[in-house]
Amino acid sequence: MNSCYKKDEWLIIEEGFHPELNRESESIFSIGNGYMGQRANFEEHYSGDSLQGSYIAGVYYPDKTRVGWWKNGYPEYFAKVLNAPNWIGIDVSVNGKTVDLATARIISFSRILNMREGYLERSFRILIAENKTIEINSRRFLSMAEPDLGIIKYSVKSANFAGTIDFTVYIDADVRNEDANYGKKFWKEVRREVTTGTGIIITRTMKTDFHVATGMCYELHGNKKPLHVKPSVTDREKFVANTFSVKTKPGDELTIVKYVSVLSSLNNPKDVLMTDVKKRLKDASSKGYAKLFSEHKSEWGEIWDASDVVIEGDIAAQQAIRFNIFQLNQTYTGKDERLNIGPKGFTGEKYGGSTYWDTEAFALPFFLKTADQKVARNLLLYRYKHLGESIKNAEKLGFKNGAALYPMVTMNGEECHNEWEITFEEIHRNGAIAYAIYNYNRHTGDNGYMADYGLEVLIGISRFWSQRATWSEEKKKYMILGVTGPNEYENNVNNNWYTNTMAVWTLSYTISNLLLVSKETPGKYEKIIRKTDFDFTEETGYWQKVIDKMHMPYDDKRKVFLQQDGFLDKELLPAEKIPPEERPINQHWSWDRILRSCYIKQADVLHGLYVLEDKYDIKTVKRNFDFYEPMTVHESSLSACIHSIVASRIGNIRKAYELYLRTARLDLDDYNNEVGDGLHITSMAGTWLAIVEGFGGMRILDSKVRVNPLIPEKWTSYSFQARFRSVRFEVKVTHTGVIIKNKSDRTLKMIVFDKEYQIHGSEEKQIEL
Ligand code: BGC
Repeated sequence: MNSCYKKDEWLIIEEGFHPELNRESESIFSIGNGYMGQRANFEEHYSGDSLQGSYIAGVYYPDKTRVGWWKNGYPEYFAKVLNAPNWIGIDVSVNGKTVDLATARIISFSRILNMREGYLERSFRILIAENKTIEINSRRFLSMAEPDLGIIKYSVKSANFAGTIDFTVYIDADVRNEDANYGKKFWKEVRREVTTGTGIIITRTMKTDFHVATGMCYELHGNKKPLHVKPSVTDREKFVANTFSVKTKPGDELTIVKYVSVLSSLNNPKDVLMTDVKKRLKDASSKGYAKLFSEHKSEWGEIWDASDVVIEGDIAAQQAIRFNIFQLNQTYTGKDERLNIGPKGFTGEKYGGSTYWDTEAFALPFFLKTADQKVARNLLLYRYKHLGESIKNAEKLGFKNGAALYPMVTMNGEECHNEWEITFEEIHRNGAIAYAIYNYNRHTGDNGYMADYGLEVLIGISRFWSQRATWSEEKKKYMILGVTGPNEYENNVNNNWYTNTMAVWTLSYTISNLLLVSKETPGKYEKIIRKTDFDFTEETGYWQKVIDKMHMPYDDKRKVFLQQDGFLDKELLPAEKIPPEERPINQHWSWDRILRSCYIKQADVLHGLYVLEDKYDIKTVKRNFDFYEPMTVHESSLSACIHSIVASRIGNIRKAYELYLRTARLDLDDYNNEVGDGLHITSMAGTWLAIVEGFGGMRILDSKVRVNPLIPEKWTSYSFQARFRSVRFEVKVTHTGVIIKNKSDRTLKMIVFDKEYQIHGSEEKQIEL
């Protein structure tokens, strides 16, 4: 565990340079704006260990699959988010000596992420020669207001030396992905242009042919006044630069403001990228740094107003939750339904930047409660648009008649994952995608979505479930055989309770929505029936049989649901029996030992009891929690948050808090020693849910919001912002009561501790505990 960052409510602060932790800090201090992201690499040359990372949402490369043993049905490629042209570069040399923090004599260093205003700042002082010091300050942000823009303000101050400082301001498109399967570079140059003051490179991705224009222009100031120095120009393949020298005397400060625009063919026609990027650079520089920054800051102001969580009495928790909210909003802004949320967002290459079930199961509930409904709607539309590919994916595996299997991992709808036990068997993902439609509907009340899009997706998924279930003559039950549940430490099991439960739930939900849409919008219903060639009587008749006769593994003695058939044949041991030096088990045990053990990677039965909680009484939830929690090793970042929510539900605040702590500072304290690869963006949503749905007990029940708050002993109070339909509100919980503030002008009906209240527009209501 590493805790080199100082605790602060709004800032993440690294003081002193820790080269051995540089990759970790590069991930932690990443910035993004939903359209692109940038690891906290240095602007100036750095010869030490670093993972260079500039990423553009939706721009990927299909890297040819690499597997040990090919299985029919495997995808041909794994879609990778690309390390895109490096736009941050500003090299500096002082009296001919390159500034490089890996070799410099460092007097002081700090790196600060300002989460309130959305920027990264770095300051350091180094010795250039005996008693000769320079100080460098840089600040950069990716504009939330104009998402193609990245802006850097970079100053070099001579404390006590006179001499020459050389700057090279550049764009470098000769970049590679560290995780390239065959060591190939993925970018080709299309065109470049460099002049005095500007540089632009247009590159294209191999195979996918995305074109990206990365352009820069800059201003130079000497002691805060414009300074004009003639640069020399470098113009070579995949690299454009301006280099200039400035004479300085003690006390002088030179500042470069670098404006960068990154446009891609996802949003701009290829043939006008050059003209468009020039225009964007011109507009940005005429607007100027101060205005661009203030517009960016005000966007962050609005985001915080809608999503902040304030925790009093625990600064580490306060910092952590803001860090999580900040990173989630940097990753996805919901403006474009072609984009999604990779488990590592824009902070690393791992997981390919692609979409997993994490989006629907974890990230969507966060955005549903903190952002305009179109943000969540765009996440649903993303899957709607991939329905055709999901049908093809299922066909490839032998399913028919419009059955859809959504991919485990995808960029464009096609499956990218290639481990048979996950690709073919971790089919519960389909359940999360169906459930997301229900979740969206109950939060927003947008019934139109179902008839326009949702129902088609539900039909495809239900067809899949009904075909995937097989009839056992022996047991006179339907079975779902050969699956991997959310707990990936069990593969190829029969009748994973969570999977079977989600299958049955989806089938029932689809039938009720077929009936509803046929009643409410018969015209649209007819259209869907024709489009999907749906035979209502025959198909739903069969679905109903599957619903009625699905096998659900259950232990009569303990009265708990069984994770899968045969689970009780395992040696049931608590995780605390595992010697600490053997944890995490996935780094110390052979895979077959893990599979034979009872140990659970992440919430599985408990995930089902979380999503479908209104079907199960508290006693049932408690029995299952008490049975499964001790065997859970929480080796997925998506685990402890769900257990924490379930612990809150059964009123076990001590356990809920203990589990919450495992998720809250996962990245800031690098519990799993892997932050260098990138942050756990999707699990950050889980942490937020552990507060709002866990401690706060917020639910949408029968078209009303309910809160049922608990408060961890250590906290003096906490408050969160949320929304339900068009009403925004704040819930503040103390040890003596709850204060609900209606932040809109419409009346909010809310159930607090089982009693209903009406809170009028702008009203505040105090409820005693
Ligand atoms: C988890 C999956 C998750 C994936 C990406 C895995 O370790 O087991 O549930 O989808 O990580 O976050």
